[in-house]
Amino acid sequence: MTTPTWYLDELDHAGPEHLDAGYVAGYDRKTGVDPAGDLALLRDLGLGEADTLVDLGTGTGALPLIAAPYCRRVVAVDVSAPMLAVLQQRAEDAGIANIECVRAGFLSYEHQGAPANVVYSRHALHHLPDFWKAVAFERIAAMLKTGGIFHFRDLFLSVGPGEAAEAIEHWLAHASETPEVGWTREELEIHLREEYSTFTWLIEPMLERAGFRIEARHGLESKIYAAYTCVRV
Ligand SMILES: C[S@@+](CC[C@H](N)C(=O)[O-])C[C@H]1O[C@@H](n2cnc3c(N)ncnc32)[C@H](O)[C@@H]1O
Repeated sequence: MTTPTWYLDELDHAGPEHLDAGYVAGYDRKTGVDPAGDLALLRDLGLGEADTLVDLGTGTGALPLIAAPYCRRVVAVDVSAPMLAVLQQRAEDAGIANIECVRAGFLSYEHQGAPANVVYSRHALHHLPDFWKAVAFERIAAMLKTGGIFHFRDLFLSVGPGEAAEAIEHWLAHASETPEVGWTREELEIHLREEYSTFTWLIEPMLERAGFRIEARHGLESKIYAAYTCVRV
């Protein structure tokens, strides 16, 4: 089917900084991301050497780079060419041959080959408005085998609308002083105004409707971030 003209343009919503090679070069220092805990969780959940792992919105591919030795095939998907260029170079430098970089997004990636055993996504779903998150969840369910795992994390508020301002102010008060090693208050405010973080209580029915059973919720006590481990039923 051809893409309808009303379909979301993922590049328009990708965050201009993610398409800027200069920003991407400093990305890992800024985020300080360490995916070791997520890899351990995925391996505990059964990710194994015969398996296919898909990382949607992979960025510089922190998880694929450490997960590749433990599975057969890793598909690292992102709309940003500069992000994928960094990952491709790192994979080559490390002699990793089972990571495939695919320039596409939640709404455009077409999975080929055996169904995925695990789909992972970290801090990328907030680029989609809620209508499109629901579409993305159905697309993710369709690329997973029955019983497969979908694990993802993002900025999802686990409070009611009336409590959101207090939770957000508390979060903003701990923002980084400098943009090189974290997100400043100004950057976080742009995120809140212009991107699509949402509430956990909106995400959960979307997951169930897409064909997932929620196995575990992580980090909801932060009120700001949440991760979900779901099973494709
Ligand atoms: C904040 S970064 C997170 C990267 C990485 N997952 C991490 O945890 O460090 C968000 C990433 O999502 C990508 N992105 C934005 N919109 C997307 C979409 N519609 N589909 C897939 N990736 C997207 C951006 O290019 C960027 O690399």
